[in-house]
Amino acid sequence: MANEIKTIGVLTSGGDAPGMNAAIRAVVRQALAKGVNVKGIKKGYQGLLNEEIVDLKRSSVSDIIQRGGTILGTARCMEFKTDEGQQKGADICKEYGIEGLVVIGGDGSYRGAQALSRKGINTIGIPGTIDLDISCTDYTIGFDTAVNTAMQAIDKVRDTSSSHERCSIIEVMGRNAGYIALWCGVANGAEDILLPEKYDYNEQGIINNIISNRKKGKTHHIIINAEGIGHSTSMARRIEAATGIETRATILGYMQRGGSPTCKDRFYASIMGAYATDILCQGKTNRVVGYRNGEFQDFDIEEALAMKKDIPEYQYEVSRALAM
Ligand code: ADP
Ligand code: F6P
Repeated sequence: MANEIKTIGVLTSGGDAPGMNAAIRAVVRQALAKGVNVKGIKKGYQGLLNEEIVDLKRSSVSDIIQRGGTILGTARCMEFKTDEGQQKGADICKEYGIEGLVVIGGDGSYRGAQALSRKGINTIGIPGTIDLDISCTDYTIGFDTAVNTAMQAIDKVRDTSSSHERCSIIEVMGRNAGYIALWCGVANGAEDILLPEKYDYNEQGIINNIISNRKKGKTHHIIINAEGIGHSTSMARRIEAATGIETRATILGYMQRGGSPTCKDRFYASIMGAYATDILCQGKTNRVVGYRNGEFQDFDIEEALAMKKDIPEYQYEVSRALAM
């Protein structure tokens, strides 16, 4: 079956994530090594519909593994959610000789991949998001870089917070998921960690905690607040009014999504890019690559999307115990 496919495409879709370039590079080089041509589709599904399609050679992906963002660009495309848009996308793939497509993105992007697969274009997804919120995998491209960036930023805020004996609320990304907040909360030794999956909106509990810590002589109080909870600035105002302790909010924002990928993100993204290319060239379709139970695997997209993922209870309990 191998090498029946002569040309594949690759695109990045949804939010960019550090390590996407390593995945693109791996797709291109693994395919070329098998004698398969690669076309890069710019700006996700929008670029496909606009026919922004370029040939990728070995040299096209030189000097990118260390760069954040995605050299292909990314976008969100409403038209691709319609049957007409998906049919047009499949027709354009056929016109350009693209028989298989690697889609690097999140759950929404897999829906698009699934639609193309139904219309005769073989598709394989790779999990690319800093949020770690894809159920079929313990690893997503960009999470490791994002948590390391956030961790370093939070350490810096802590220095000034301690010097002024202030309370700090630091908001981290993650959309509706609390993984970045949980990891930073533990790694930065935060006093409170607010996760959308767990937070009971009991601000009085946080206020009591701040007052009791101050009585014990703690000079800082770090609260990691997940984006899914938000409202950090108004929360800071309320906490300051209730405790009498100066309280500042810092929203880390997009800095968490940029920057040079960590070794882990470069390595895992490279393996996933090569793996996706291998199974695409074997004739597989409608699959998504994941890392689970210590190994790289692939799952049916429908099954992957139906899987559920939550904050591991034991990790959450430990985060609470260590913050006391
Ligand atoms: P992510 O892939 O990170 O979850 P989005 O949810 O924004 O990000 O999805 C990225 C893109 O995938 C969307 O802009 C759209 O083009 C495509 N997409 C999302 N949902 C669907 C769907 N149900 N059917 C087809 N395409 C979709
Ligand atoms: O999914 C990655 C992410 O950075 C989320 O953490 C955040 O909620 C969202 O994307 C922001 O999206 P946008 O780039 O559209 O503002």
